[in-house]
Amino acid sequence: MIVAKGLEGIVVDTSEISLIDGKVGRLIYRGYDIRDLASSLSFEEVAYLLWNGNLPNREQLMELTNRLAEQRHIPSSLTAAIRKLPPSSNTLDVLRTAISILGGEIPLKKPDMADAITISAKIPTINATFDRVRKGLEPIEPRNDLSHAANYLYMLTGNEPNPGKATALNRYLILLADHGMNSSTFTARVVASTWSDAYSAVTAAICALKGPLHGGAPAPVLQMLHDIATPDRAEEWIRNELKAGRRLMGFGHRVYKTTDPRAEILREIAQETASKNMVALARKVEETAIKVLQEYRRERRLYTNVEFYSAVVMDSVGLPPDLFTATFAASRSVGWTANVLEQVQNNRLIRPETQYTGPLNRKVVPIDER
Ligand code: ACO
Repeated sequence: MIVAKGLEGIVVDTSEISLIDGKVGRLIYRGYDIRDLASSLSFEEVAYLLWNGNLPNREQLMELTNRLAEQRHIPSSLTAAIRKLPPSSNTLDVLRTAISILGGEIPLKKPDMADAITISAKIPTINATFDRVRKGLEPIEPRNDLSHAANYLYMLTGNEPNPGKATALNRYLILLADHGMNSSTFTARVVASTWSDAYSAVTAAICALKGPLHGGAPAPVLQMLHDIATPDRAEEWIRNELKAGRRLMGFGHRVYKTTDPRAEILREIAQETASKNMVALARKVEETAIKVLQEYRRERRLYTNVEFYSAVVMDSVGLPPDLFTATFAASRSVGWTANVLEQVQNNRLIRPETQYTGPLNRKVVPIDER
């Protein structure tokens, strides 16, 4: 029996959705390089691609855009439930609760495209509704005439975002939408493989995304940048962190053996949207971290992952740090649901094994003799 700790290197199924080439640092959705997709397309076009396998024509795009926009509204019962949650709640806990509540109104059924559209359309509204009510503000109704990205920013503030910010968020949402058999996607597929429903699969995926080894890293990345504060303090701060045995958030990846291509594109986006000081600080922290990590881990180079510049970009478009991972979920929900639909199309229960290393042949002794 071969034990693959963390399932490293295990190929669990075939997939036509995304390809990660970890050696050269390349990510492909349905045959298209993400750099091409993120440079000119809308998130809605990429959602269509991930869900359907091909880029939409104008009519198909219009239909999906309208369906997503119509589905942005959340029922008043859900808004009421969100109002009851403590304002200090973790935004991922809010999101998983909200998706559970939405799913609770739907009978157990095989996941379909309508589920994928409904879930992905409503996540930004859920995030924005919680952000408003926890601040004692009224939620803002979604607008059907704005893009997915622009409407998200609009619902947080009530102001139409400037086009630069909406474009930056649109590109972020495209870049994060799918990523092979990552932990949360695997979780979603495991749940779907049991003949459970799409809402359960996405709720479980949100739980997996929450952890800092996966989607929970960007807020700590921003905290690190704030703590370091000026480029000249980067090296000392990083060394102290590693000496204390802590991990540097935003660095290292299971699959990439070079820089994560999304980090490179997000770095370029950050240069357009973030302040000069923030970009200079991030650049210095990135270079220093890679250099110092190499001293600490000579046998394996660690590079920048997607979360490092995700934090800088999300901060620059005005998202509060504790909404970073919930915004990641707004993007990845498309990948989760595309994977759930692929899983149920040609399903087999996902059920790995463990190698038992506990004791054998023990005799039960009565409680008074233990
Ligand atoms: N800082 C310091 N040390 C690190 C880091 C890091 N960022 N990443 C890995 N290491 C060390 C580990 O401590 C471990 O050391 P050990 O062998 O002495 O125990 C060794 O490198 C191997 O680490 P693993 O966790 O086995 O590597 P894996 O490939 O499974 O981990 C992971 C990938 C979880 C992303 C890791 O690099 C990490 O913890 N990074 C920081 C958190 C982070 O940025 N998360 C976001 C990931 S991107 C995403 O999911 C969207």
